[in-house]
Amino acid sequence: MEPRRDSLSGFGLGLRTQHYPAILEEHDGRAEGVDWFEIISENYIDVGGAPRRNLMRIREHYPMVMHGVSLSIGGTDPLDMDYLAGLKRLIDMVEPALVSDHLCWTGVHGINLHDLLPLPFTLETVRHVAERIARVQDYLGRHILIENASTYTAFAADEMSEWEFVTEIAERADCHILLDVNNIYVSAFNHGFQALDYLAGVPAGRIKQIHLAGHSHEGDYIIDTHDHPVPDPVWELYGRAIERLGPVPTMIERDDNIPPFEELVRELQQARALSEAALHKREAAQ
Ligand SMILES: [Fe+2]
Repeated sequence: MEPRRDSLSGFGLGLRTQHYPAILEEHDGRAEGVDWFEIISENYIDVGGAPRRNLMRIREHYPMVMHGVSLSIGGTDPLDMDYLAGLKRLIDMVEPALVSDHLCWTGVHGINLHDLLPLPFTLETVRHVAERIARVQDYLGRHILIENASTYTAFAADEMSEWEFVTEIAERADCHILLDVNNIYVSAFNHGFQALDYLAGVPAGRIKQIHLAGHSHEGDYIIDTHDHPVPDPVWELYGRAIERLGPVPTMIERDDNIPPFEELVRELQQARALSEAALHKREAAQ
């Protein structure tokens, strides 16, 4: 397993087409303050022409990670082998350091619902998802990362906490974890659990990437909108995550209400500073 890959460290941003002029023209493909970019896999699978040229021009200067939204690893349809073949072609082209998707289901009967839908936290689901992840990893010839999604409903059938569910799947499938700190915060608020219990419960050695993002607070619930800067409570939780996990490659996701590139780079500096402070605390405590 694990054929070619750059080693990944430092701080990245989600690559957004709005920022292409800033990255390619103003910075000639080498923007300071960003160590790597994450692309949404589906935006580039079997895409040619200018989008592909721009992508590969940026790839010349930066490590990249690939983040998917259509694997539907928790779904009950058979794995979509056409999708996986396209994903593999993109992996061969981009040579990403990491490949991730979400711990959720996104469709049924061949229909993609374009939403990250929640799974019941049961042993039956653990077995189902772990077996599918193992098959995907065999097919791609590398580990994948699964990301904790934010949720708004829970199932009466739940048999375990979300962190036990994530851990059990990762151990059984031998896969890695993309820990979205904002999603932990959102789900903890929506379901009334302790975000710190979540952090304490996940296997540190399997966490290879962290996502940070903003959300919309609606009073008695939170929606994971990715359209705001990272808010203070998520920064605070991120600090606690780094104290527990040590250095983990971290990126900011911004999908809507996208600010100028330089503004996101400044926000990323905040992540750097916070991570450094948390690592000092971690060292002092050891
Ligand atoms: Fe995320």
